[in-house]
Amino acid sequence: MGEEGKSGRPRGLGTRLTHAARDRKLTLGGVNPVVQKASTVIVESASKLFEPGGWTYGRHGTATHEALQQALCEIEGAEHCVLAPSGLMACILPFLGFGGAGGHVLVGDNVYGPTRRFVDRMLPRWGCEATYFDPQIGAGIATLLRPETTLVFVESPGSMTFEIADAPAIAAAARSANVVSVMDNTWSAGVFHKPLTLGFDLSVQANTKYVSGGADILNGAIYLNDDRLLARLKETVADLGVNVAPDDAYAVLRGARSLAMRMDHHQASALEVARWLTKHPAIARVIHPALESDPSHALWKRDFTGSSGLFSIALKPMPTAKVHAFLDALDLFGLGFSYGGFESLVIHCDPQLKRTSSTSDLGGPLIRLSIGLEEPADLIADLEQALAQVS
Ligand SMILES: Cc1ncc(COP(=O)(O)O)c(C=O)c1O
Repeated sequence: MGEEGKSGRPRGLGTRLTHAARDRKLTLGGVNPVVQKASTVIVESASKLFEPGGWTYGRHGTATHEALQQALCEIEGAEHCVLAPSGLMACILPFLGFGGAGGHVLVGDNVYGPTRRFVDRMLPRWGCEATYFDPQIGAGIATLLRPETTLVFVESPGSMTFEIADAPAIAAAARSANVVSVMDNTWSAGVFHKPLTLGFDLSVQANTKYVSGGADILNGAIYLNDDRLLARLKETVADLGVNVAPDDAYAVLRGARSLAMRMDHHQASALEVARWLTKHPAIARVIHPALESDPSHALWKRDFTGSSGLFSIALKPMPTAKVHAFLDALDLFGLGFSYGGFESLVIHCDPQLKRTSSTSDLGGPLIRLSIGLEEPADLIADLEQALAQVS
């Protein structure tokens, strides 16, 4: 819908997401788009059968997909958005599109487990080599670039250990070597961090988390501005037969309408809980980049406009049985691997941490908290009673 309306005043994200994708062609006059369930699409004339950009077959997109893409572009300020059936598929499509036999990719050592699993298990089968780099490498990444490097993949902050990467430095090094740069931007939901404006070629998100917000859908998106990269990604999607069901596209858009407002709530509540935890004697460290004490705070302050509801705590050293007792004592936090939904969640991270080129000694057992839309005072009371049982 554009940044400004008749008033000429730049519109905020909440306004833009409320009014995006409301073209009559997509909504038939409703305020929501139609759910166009279609494999077959009948085109108007023979000359349009092979016309690029039109709706020609369900797998290549329908009105519902187009509506979601239009709205999502508002979040990251992107020209284009490619949809994926999961966040993980959004992460791996760039490897499939821009990596290949004889090639080399660079991957942040703190990436989310299943992204790492794909890199470790699938890329070697394709004859593509990967090197993991310290997430805080910054401009030093230039030393790892090789003539055959085609892609750099960064997750910032890492979704368990929360190191923020020096995005402009990494993007600039990649660009000067003609290497495609990709940022997993799921933590910020795209609301608080715009990798494309910091020089990254692609920003990816698991819409499964904050964008859909309902904890009931798997979906992903890749954002970009470059037409040449878009053509290659679209080819990759078509060659792989990757597809998003129209019902899912509709549900993600429905969630996205309230994203800006929800993120404000997640941000404020998580900070309130995090600040309270910093004073608790059973906690060795609170790992949240928006806290002044965090080692990533300066980069967060420079490159982000806010923070989401996801952060970690390191408990003071204690046996695993006690860690489990703490987790089991929690009442409002569900034991669940996701985040970004309306409900608060918690996991024990240690069994999932894997590093090969950097260390992550955080001072004790690592627990990740996803702060939902409950009242923060209730969450604090719940944490207090659970910590009291193991302190
Ligand atoms: C940072 C990050 N990227 C990608 C994904 C993958 O999303 P999905 O579960 O939709 O495949 C996740 C899921 O937890 C994630 O945390």
